[in-house]
Amino acid sequence: MKKPLVKILSIAIVCTLFNTQMNSQNKDIEKKIDSLMNLMTLEEKVGQMNQYNGFWNLTGPAPEEGNAKLKYDHLRSGLVGSMLNVRGAENARKIQEIVVNETRLGIPLIFGYDVIHGQKTITPIPLAEAASWDLKAIEMSARVAATEAAAEGIHWTFAPMMDISRDARWGRVMEGGGEDPYLGAKIGVARVKGFQGDDLSAPNTIAACAKHFAAYGFAESGKDYNTVDIGTSTLYNIVFPPFKAAVDHNVRTVMNSFNILNGIPATGNKFLQRDVLKEMWGFDGFIISDWGSGKEMIDHGFAKDLKEVARLAANAGSDMDMESYAYVAHLKDLVESGTVSEKVIDQAVRRILRVKFELGLFDDPYRYCDTVREQELMNHPDHHAAALDMARKSIVLLKNEGNLLPLTKDQKKIAVIGALASDKNSPLGSWRLASEDNSAVSVLEGLQRYSSEITYARGPELVVGETTFINEVRINETDRSGFQEAVQLAKNSEVVIMVLGEHGFQSGEGRSRAELDLPGLQQELLEAVHGVNKNVILVLNNGRPLAFPWASENIPAILEAWQLGSQTGHAVAQVLFGEYNPSGKLPMTFPRSVGQVPIYYNHFNTGRPGPIELVFWTHYIDENNAPLYPFGYGLSYTEFSYSDLKIDAANPKDVKVSVTVTNKGDRMGEEVAQLYIRDKVASNVRPVKELKGFEKFSLKPNESKKITFSLTENELGFYMPDGDFVVEPGEFDVMVGGSSVEGLSGSFVLK
Ligand code: NOJ
Repeated sequence: MKKPLVKILSIAIVCTLFNTQMNSQNKDIEKKIDSLMNLMTLEEKVGQMNQYNGFWNLTGPAPEEGNAKLKYDHLRSGLVGSMLNVRGAENARKIQEIVVNETRLGIPLIFGYDVIHGQKTITPIPLAEAASWDLKAIEMSARVAATEAAAEGIHWTFAPMMDISRDARWGRVMEGGGEDPYLGAKIGVARVKGFQGDDLSAPNTIAACAKHFAAYGFAESGKDYNTVDIGTSTLYNIVFPPFKAAVDHNVRTVMNSFNILNGIPATGNKFLQRDVLKEMWGFDGFIISDWGSGKEMIDHGFAKDLKEVARLAANAGSDMDMESYAYVAHLKDLVESGTVSEKVIDQAVRRILRVKFELGLFDDPYRYCDTVREQELMNHPDHHAAALDMARKSIVLLKNEGNLLPLTKDQKKIAVIGALASDKNSPLGSWRLASEDNSAVSVLEGLQRYSSEITYARGPELVVGETTFINEVRINETDRSGFQEAVQLAKNSEVVIMVLGEHGFQSGEGRSRAELDLPGLQQELLEAVHGVNKNVILVLNNGRPLAFPWASENIPAILEAWQLGSQTGHAVAQVLFGEYNPSGKLPMTFPRSVGQVPIYYNHFNTGRPGPIELVFWTHYIDENNAPLYPFGYGLSYTEFSYSDLKIDAANPKDVKVSVTVTNKGDRMGEEVAQLYIRDKVASNVRPVKELKGFEKFSLKPNESKKITFSLTENELGFYMPDGDFVVEPGEFDVMVGGSSVEGLSGSFVLK
């Protein structure tokens, strides 16, 4: 065992200093909060901690009866601090007017909304965006979303989702940055910057929310809302880093999660919310519960009733209650009876008011309620241009045997097959609440713009019945009508583009899958088409990694096109016809079969890594250990070579690793050079590989570029299971290449 070189408790200190600095700039705001809080009654303070769902449908207010009546009453008496799902400048103004004009102190509401990947202009699902490894484009995509959302009266998005997940069965992997904490942190920060900008009160920025704190992505067996049971090494090294990075970049809110961690629901978890987030990391924004996650503590068996929910959640540091009705019903009494200290309430309210001040809501509560601006900005052409750029960059070329791709402009007789090809709804993906149904450019439409040689056969339907955001998506497994027509068309064509995968609503919240195959009859259709025409290009639309070993073996060209949002068809066509050279790299490992899941590149070596001749090593008797496609993998229409790996470890606080990358093909292309390390021997075992640097750049044919990476203590260290950050001297392996499985390798000794 080696001795720790540095024990960086200073991370917490740096973070606190940073926040203190910020706070001093905001002294003015703190004073205003003091004055306001002096005026507030206990009841009004509790009101700030209460968030209700909106009751407006898109065409007007719901009648003032039942639950809606209660909400109106509470709004009027200052018992509501925030609403979610109120959208539209006019609707937002009407609700805001109630609290501003009718409550005693007129404290404006903060309106939150799930702006996950776009508002009206829909950008690719976050997992797809993560495949771009392009932080600038991702930041821009979030800015587009913020601009449109702000113009619709929204102040605050419940994004980005920072949950690392290794389980493709979990439907919410579509919402995140994939399996890796380093990449996930960079992407999360880019999105926070995109949403929040430098000035929260600017008309094109909104407050972001790092969610779901914490470990929600580790739901057992990939089943949403399921038990989480992970060790603290995983918690500190895998789960926390993206959240910490977001806090270091001033994310203004954090959402807790539905799951338990070590037997304690996140909403009632003091360790997560007070000790780690607020104390250790110095987070000075506020924590919102997830929807009803407070009252779900009763189902978890942690609280006996709603009153206990209020006590446990408030004491644990959950500042705002989303739709549990616990704070509004019980917090005042709990304080008056001495069960909850008024200090707890004051701290929470201060945090909430701070964000409201920063948003400029006290200067002008209606600043986001301008219907003219709303008209101008929704679906603005610039936003669609950014969405197209993001969509093209999100596509990953998985296979291209015999350079079947790109297609040339004079390619004759192109068949397009698959119900998803003409679908204008599914490409919008899950979590796109504000978008217009069927507003995406379908793959078929995109292709038709490029070629007059396109003929289309739908094949069997993928989905039976209506698809909506809230219903279960039902898959057609029996109706083969359309099969014959599709096969016949393939027979008479030179090349076949098959668009297969998942419907947009097969992933997202509550949409876990036990299988990761092509759902319904699609595999059968693929094999039938391949039986009559080998020139098949498979375009995959999906919200999670899928397992398709047969296609990977037999289909010559495969393009991972996810769900790319409003501009899907144009992006796919531009890549298929070579107008854009694909540059995406997988942010999650694609398994060969569901039995391999959870499968991830940064696993531990185990004591029996093998292979050996006997059976006694870590493997399956009926499946490979290798994935179908590894993390960081993605091809291009050109080829990149890596040479000249140099490592300079003279300065242990800044180890330099450089490499030269050359474009050896005959077209311009973008590459993502990735740096992985392995800490060979450590006092707490380290993974076989860990991503610790990447750079995306473009190269002309025959052009070379020298890339230099810096490995500082941040990259070389790790968290011990008790949360201490250590950097240990000793030998490190280094690998630099175009994916997690190939590249140049070397090593160095850290002194
Ligand atoms: C529940 C989801 O878990 C969360 O991510 C979302 O922001 C809220 N519902 C609000 O819609």
